[in-house]
Amino acid sequence: MLRYVTTNPGKVREAERYLPDGSVERLDFDYTEIQADGLGPIAARGAREAYRHAGEPVLVDDAGLFVEGLDGFPGPYSSYVEETLGVERVHEIAAGLDDRRAAFRCTLGYCDGEGFAASPDPVDRGDRDAAAAAGPDGEGVADDGAGESDGDGAGESNADGAGESTDALPVKLFEGYVPGRIVAPRGDGGFGYDPIFEHDGETFAEMDTDRKNAVSHRGRALEKFAEWYADR
Ligand code: IMP
Repeated sequence: MLRYVTTNPGKVREAERYLPDGSVERLDFDYTEIQADGLGPIAARGAREAYRHAGEPVLVDDAGLFVEGLDGFPGPYSSYVEETLGVERVHEIAAGLDDRRAAFRCTLGYCDGEGFAASPDPVDRGDRDAAAAAGPDGEGVADDGAGESDGDGAGESNADGAGESTDALPVKLFEGYVPGRIVAPRGDGGFGYDPIFEHDGETFAEMDTDRKNAVSHRGRALEKFAEWYADR
């Protein structure tokens, strides 16, 4: 059984559409969200912590809203900003900007205690170099570029303990990205920043789960993960 690690049932509803019936269950575990300027290190660290806690295969989902006119803020701090300022205030701040373009990014971190075969994908090789350069835990993997460099808005990379640390559990990362813009809140569905994020004329809160999955950052990352996991 795969455990989808999140305190947010909305994320699991989206994930269930990509995985065989009954193969995934939510693990309501609040892993430590380290401070980092990208989602990859947060997901990698969270996946290791969740695996140590659960003792079975885990998938951690770390996501964020990156507003262009705010240099990517709130990004990895999205949940803190949602809790403190709230979604409406983020819209108000963005309303004063010339550039209201934004993107959602999602990084999934998978850990089952086993290692991964190297992938021939050049995106992976680049990320391995970045991970090696970042230090022994392999957590400095460059997640952001990988999400875009293969052109489909969904990257895949290894953060598999590139260094020597003996207790560094291998983690595999899958990334997804969706462009949009910040608008006044519309729609009743979804969660989090969905009402203020518009893609293709609709906010995510105006879309049903299937429609959101078809275009979303999480959908892109889950698609990659589901394809890889089917062979695992
Ligand atoms: P986390 O990945 O649960 O830490 O989420 C970070 C922040 O982004 C939280 O405030 C979530 O509500 C928000 N968030 C994550 N994914 C989505 C999404 O798909 N739509 C809207 N907000 C999201």
